[in-house]
Amino acid sequence: MENQIHITYGITAFEDLHIELTEKQYSSVFILVDSNTKSFCLDRFFKYCPIKVNAVLNMAAGEENKNLKTCEKLWHDLSEHGADRNSVLINLGGGVVTDLGGFVACTFKRGIDFYNIPTTLLAMVDASVGGKTGIDLGPLKNQIGIIREPENVIVDAAWLNTLPYEELRSGFAEMLKHGLIANPSYWDSLKSLTQLTPQRVENFIKPSIEEKTKVVLVDPHEKGLRKILNFGHTLGHAIESYYLTHTKKPRLLHGEAIAIGMILEAYLATHCSGLAKILAEEIKKTFVTFFPKVIISTTDQNGILELLRHDKKNKAGRINFVLLKAIGVPHIDVEVPQALFSKAFEFYHST
Ligand SMILES: NC(=O)c1ccc[n+]([C@@H]2O[C@H](COP(=O)([O-])OP(=O)(O)OC[C@H]3O[C@@H](n4cnc5c(N)ncnc54)[C@H](O)[C@@H]3O)[C@@H](O)[C@H]2O)c1
Ligand SMILES: [Zn+2]
Repeated sequence: MENQIHITYGITAFEDLHIELTEKQYSSVFILVDSNTKSFCLDRFFKYCPIKVNAVLNMAAGEENKNLKTCEKLWHDLSEHGADRNSVLINLGGGVVTDLGGFVACTFKRGIDFYNIPTTLLAMVDASVGGKTGIDLGPLKNQIGIIREPENVIVDAAWLNTLPYEELRSGFAEMLKHGLIANPSYWDSLKSLTQLTPQRVENFIKPSIEEKTKVVLVDPHEKGLRKILNFGHTLGHAIESYYLTHTKKPRLLHGEAIAIGMILEAYLATHCSGLAKILAEEIKKTFVTFFPKVIISTTDQNGILELLRHDKKNKAGRINFVLLKAIGVPHIDVEVPQALFSKAFEFYHST
């Protein structure tokens, strides 16, 4: 059922997964990894879930591979290994693997079961939960996709021990977002963390997932409430796409881009949804403590705004934002005068 979300936690969840997979008597079992999760995660997965798989499917790591070409390769791989409608795909990786693997599973023979085992913080607290699967179309993020929940999501913080610091921080941006849109006391505890380590964030993972699932259960198809999860993402996605296609510019991870997006949108909120200026300052201060500022030139700002006009969430050419009225109080469908955008970038760059 699409409006049920199954999540299990910790190392014992792998034992349960093993039992569940065996009981379901899938005709064949496949596991998808990218080049990093193949090296860092696959052996540990088999250690705790010693299931017999028909094939390990591989994809190259990185957002630039979250595209149709990779899907096509994987559909062929499944086909060549005799996958049928009763096969199952286990996605072991970050958000790229869970988004793309979920989409491959949802479309192969009109849909086979899939499980997500998120191995990045971002995939744990966000990408692997909530049923959105999909791929990018050229520079445009997540343009093609399907909403369907995995059979189960197995969350185990131990994967984070091999994750690069920047990736940990990227996921932390989504956790901060969950505090900002839904839970002021959660925001307060996260903002007082002085150091980001797997051990320090571990206990905050479950509450973050719970904030997201609460929203998704009410509105799985993003007709209303679910839009709040897009706070920081309207501008954040445009920034992410822009930096992805301008290869001479520094690479920005998803969380790094939406961290900037949240600062910019906090500024917009002070003009368009009544957020107190002091709270916009608090949001900026918190994000820049963890995410060093990126200088975004006027040319880059224009390029970003051009991409913004292609956001799939636009309706009839209108760009709608999710803004905040206060910490924990989101406001959806706010139209923003375009003249404010350059001021928002000024706010971001100012000390
Ligand atoms: N479906 C959704 O609702 C949703 C929500 C948020 C983000 N997303 C998507 O998620 C993607 C970003 O996810 P991500 O940040 O996890 O990126 P990612 O999948 O690219 O993972 C980041 C990097 O970490 C590596 N990695 C993964 N696990 C590791 C581990 N345990 N140890 C060492 N290295 C490891 C990966 O190979 C990759 O190089 C984006 O495509 C974004 O659009 C989807
Ligand atoms: Zn996000």
